[in-house]
Order: sequence, then C-alpha cells, then structure tokens
Amino acid sequence: MSKTREYFENNGQGHVFTFFDELTEPEQENLLKQASDIDLEELSGLVSSLVQNTGSKNDSIADSLEPAEFTPLPNSDGGNPSLWIEAREKGEAALRAGRVAAFTVAGGQGTRLGYDGPKGTFGVTPVLKKSLFQVFAEKILASSRIFGRPVPWFILTSVINHDQTVAFFKENDFFGLPEDRVHFFSQGLMPAVDADGKILMSNKGQIALSPDGHGGSLRALVRSGAVRQMEADGIDTISYFQVDNPLVRCIDPAFIGFHLMNDSELSSKMVPKAYPEEKVGVFCQQNGQALVVEYSDLPERLAQERDDSGEIKFRAGSIAIHIFDRNFVDRLGSGRDESAKLPFHLAHKKVPFIDESGSIHEPTEPNAYKFEMFVFDALPFAANPVIIETSRANDFSPVKNATGVDSVETSSADQLRQFARWAKEAGIALETDDTGLPPVTFEVSPLFGDTPGRFISSWNALEHKPELTDGLVLV
Ligand code: UTP
Repeated sequence: MSKTREYFENNGQGHVFTFFDELTEPEQENLLKQASDIDLEELSGLVSSLVQNTGSKNDSIADSLEPAEFTPLPNSDGGNPSLWIEAREKGEAALRAGRVAAFTVAGGQGTRLGYDGPKGTFGVTPVLKKSLFQVFAEKILASSRIFGRPVPWFILTSVINHDQTVAFFKENDFFGLPEDRVHFFSQGLMPAVDADGKILMSNKGQIALSPDGHGGSLRALVRSGAVRQMEADGIDTISYFQVDNPLVRCIDPAFIGFHLMNDSELSSKMVPKAYPEEKVGVFCQQNGQALVVEYSDLPERLAQERDDSGEIKFRAGSIAIHIFDRNFVDRLGSGRDESAKLPFHLAHKKVPFIDESGSIHEPTEPNAYKFEMFVFDALPFAANPVIIETSRANDFSPVKNATGVDSVETSSADQLRQFARWAKEAGIALETDDTGLPPVTFEVSPLFGDTPGRFISSWNALEHKPELTDGLVLV
C-alpha cells in the first residue's frame, strides 16, 4: 500500500480509496495526487474546531469594537484635497518606477452567476459585452501607456478553471498586453467533508475538492513563485481586486500613494454603507488592530447605531479592493510567521457525492462542509493599515447574480452611468434620468479614457465628434 493510502487509513479517511482497484492507472495516479495534496492534520483540526463545534456566535466580539478610521474623499466631509493630490503624485511616481503589479483573484466557482465558464470570460459591458478580463486588460494597458512602464498582471485561477482561463487569453491575443507580463497560477484546494468529518468523493476516483477561498491567494502567490518573480522584477506593491467588478480602478494612483505614504502593509478601500442592514463586511478596530467584521457577525445593535452627525456609526463597508505590500504577502503566505495565519471559515453547502456502496447522491439540502480563507482576515496582521473612501459609482458594481441585485444588468447600467457622467463633464449635452442613466446606450473603452480627465482630453482631441447614439463605442 502506498504511503498516501496508509496515511489516509491511519487518519480515518481510508474510504477515499474504496474503489481504487477499479480505477485505470491514470485515474489512480490522479487520486493519489489529489490525496497527497491534503494535509489531514490541518483538516482534522478544522473538523473539530469548526464542524463539530458549530458553536454559538461570539457575541463578545462586540465588546471592544470601534469603527475603523478612514481617509474621506477630497469632496466628502472632512476631506483634504491637497492630501489626495500628494497621494496621487506618489502613486504615479511608483507606477513610473515600475513598482506596481495588478492582481486579480479569479479562482472562485461563481455558482450564483450560473455561467458555464470562468467568470472573467463573462460579457459585461453595455454595448460590446466585453468580458470582465478584457475590461481589466484594457485598464491595465491604459495605465501602462500613461506611466510608460508595463504593469504586470497576476491572475489567480483554480485547477477547475485554469486551462479555460489561459486559453481565453490566448484566443484573444492577451487583449494587447505583452504575453510575458500576464502570469496565471492556481490556488489551493480543500476537500469537502460530511458532518462526521469524512472526506466526500465526487466519484470513484475524485475527491470533492473546492478552492480554498480568496484568502488562499496569499499562499498561492508564494507557492507559485509569483512573489519571487515580483521581487526579481522590482515590484513591491500589489493592487488586488476581484474578477467580478468591472468598475474597479485596477490601478489607482491615489490609492497606491496613500498606501506608500503610510508605509502600509495592507491598504483597503471602503464605501459608506447605504443602509444599516446592507450585507457588506465592515471595517472596524479592536484593541488597536483593524479588522473586517462580516455583516452576519456585526450585532444588530451596532449595525443600527448612529454617530453624533446622524450617520451610520459602523459605516465603512468593505468592497474587496486592496493594496498589499509584497513582503507582507510573503510573510503571511509562506506560513513562516506562526503568529500570522489566516483562519478558515466554514460554509455549509450542497455537494453531490458517491457513497461507499457506489451510489450517487444529489442532495437537495446542504450536506457538506467546505473550508475557505478570506483575504480580509489578513488585516489584523498588517502594520499601518490604511483605509480610504471611494465612491461606488467609480469603483464598485459587482456581477454576482444572474438577475436582480448585483447582476450584469445592474453592473452594465452602472458602467453606462459612469460614461454618461464623463460625457457631461466633457460638456456633451446629454439628458439623464434621476438615477443618472442616459437615454442611449454607448460605451467607452478604457483606452479612450479611464478617468474623467482622460476622457475629456480624448474627447477634446477628436476632430469629428460623434453624436452619442445607441451602440456608439468610443475607442
Ligand atoms: P465570491 O465570494 O463572490 O465567490 O468571490 P465566487 O466563488 O466567485 O462566487 P459564488 O459565491 O460561487 O457565486 C469573490 C472573489 O473572490 C474570488 C472570486 O473569483 C471572486 O473574484 N475567489 C473566491 C477566489 O479567487 N477563490 C476562491 O476560492 C473564492
């Protein structure tokens, strides 16, 4: 018996190999490979601490929670325009020096969207239905051109969507980016278990595995060699965003500048919560450390609390846009700092599985536990965390669901509202409704303009200014 099988037998997971002798040789190899990547000690610790101690929520979290401090936008209450100018200039200098990489986490399964393919290949823009990946690629290319240095782009995949993701970029000639500046690497996987902690099998030769959460991106950056590569290329600043948000400013000089001016290890953007019950994590402070408290963990009493000016007291909503210092990623992702480890969280999900008699089950209720790390759990370990305000209209409109809230429909409308705002700023006569939507559907490529200022100068430079009509694309 192989060492791996023995290890599984000795740890009460021998059933993983029930059908081993029925498998072909490549299937056997594949199963052994999947199994050997699993750390059973870690798994058993998670089962006993998370699955079997489903325990009540830790209400004491509320005891010493304070709202996190943040830097308001220049035009918000308390905003300091000259500080923002200084930050932008610092960020621009870092970009000109080639110190910044873009980093997209695209390893998720996108189950809510229900789209068959990597989420980044999903079409989202109002007219051309350009894919999320293309939108980011054009923003990164625009930035590279403006600052005269190619911005390398690191993309986190999972083994489930890796090949399709890479093929998509190849089919599209990397959207004009230099191929050797786009780096793909896969994140780790974790097995799903039942209520007794037994690993589930999706079929006779496959363990039911799923990605280890966006927090797994930190160890994947280290394990894949991406961090070493960044070091060799002189990159110390990593601009992190999720694959589902086409409005994100992939490379934001002011944000980068605030991060660098404060010697921060991890910086974050916040938006004020729209209403107390809104389902976003909230930046807080506890015992001198910054942290994100998930909406489900924030006690109702605190969620409803108002400050002296009548605003929601705990209002700094997290939108998953960060800047990481490379050495910080190395420290956390390598695991060499025992005191700085991202915890795993538990998700109770429906996972199809095969039982030990070989029968397949398609559960209609959650039957399995999955383990995921969250990237924002890195915050308490970071020195000098910086949180700056941004506006949703300019940075955040994710595509999570097929329809309704946070769907392609809402996100495409938000992109159109942004184009319309820029057009109006450029002096173009355009009527918009109360929500800022214009009557015509048009589209602006990030290569034409990715900020109001650059939109205006491209527009002014046009010899023949087109009429804004349905289907117009400004490139
Ligand atoms: P979500 O939390 O929206 O999860 O991920 P998801 O898997 O994409 O979608 P659902 O919940 O199944 O519908 C937020 C971001 O984190 C990335 C996703 O790709 C997305 O950019 N992510 C999530 C990873 O990269 N790896 C993971 O293991 C989980």
